[in-house]
Amino acid sequence: MEEKAFISDIHSNWEALGKTLEKLSAQAIEEIYCLGDIVGYGPDPELCVEEVRKRCTGVVAGNHDWGVVGKTSILDFNSIAQAAVYWTRNKLNDTQKEYLASLPLTLHLEGDILLVHASPLMPQEWFYVVDEYSARIALENSSEKVIMVGHSHIPEAFRLKEGEIETVPFPFRLEEGARYLVNVGSVGQPRDGDPRACCVILKGEEVRLERLAYPAEITSNKIRERGLPPLLAHRIREGW
Ligand SMILES: [Fe+2]
Repeated sequence: MEEKAFISDIHSNWEALGKTLEKLSAQAIEEIYCLGDIVGYGPDPELCVEEVRKRCTGVVAGNHDWGVVGKTSILDFNSIAQAAVYWTRNKLNDTQKEYLASLPLTLHLEGDILLVHASPLMPQEWFYVVDEYSARIALENSSEKVIMVGHSHIPEAFRLKEGEIETVPFPFRLEEGARYLVNVGSVGQPRDGDPRACCVILKGEEVRLERLAYPAEITSNKIRERGLPPLLAHRIREGW
């Protein structure tokens, strides 16, 4: 049965992206979708943009992708995120910037799946989906069976069935008559206390989460050497 992989929030982390794509290739998963935030925070935006462009079947825009190209406001970004946006702007060439600017806010996949970086409720406002309350709002403002999101960097899934919203642990099966919101976590900057890269795989009705160890110390050193805020070097090794 054909498998689809969903990756998100790579944030210019080449080592984490490389390890993730290598693992997906080893499992013969060729259909890979990216839920945005290819860039921001990390030291290798050019490599990550080129690789995502080459390897992913579909990609949607994240707030950092559009922030870097001036297509969304970064006024509500914290000062570290803003510093990384300015740094990244100077690294990318025009073609890479045009690619980021061209990314759509949403994509619909066969199988009644919606891809969006943040909430499907006004995607350009980048609302976070982080609990059952915000997941219900997201699901009630969309119609697809499965909504795949990123943005919070925390992998988790919610099921809406017969008006009841519930958190569901990975792995799980898509049930008849239920709708789902799945946050696929972050490849390059996980924030759930586990520094390993993560992604979600969909195989038929089965949804599973994969965690992948990668050499975060290499990325961390590059962040310091290239003059990005040192806190960014620290957090990827801790997973927060
Ligand atoms: Fe992000």
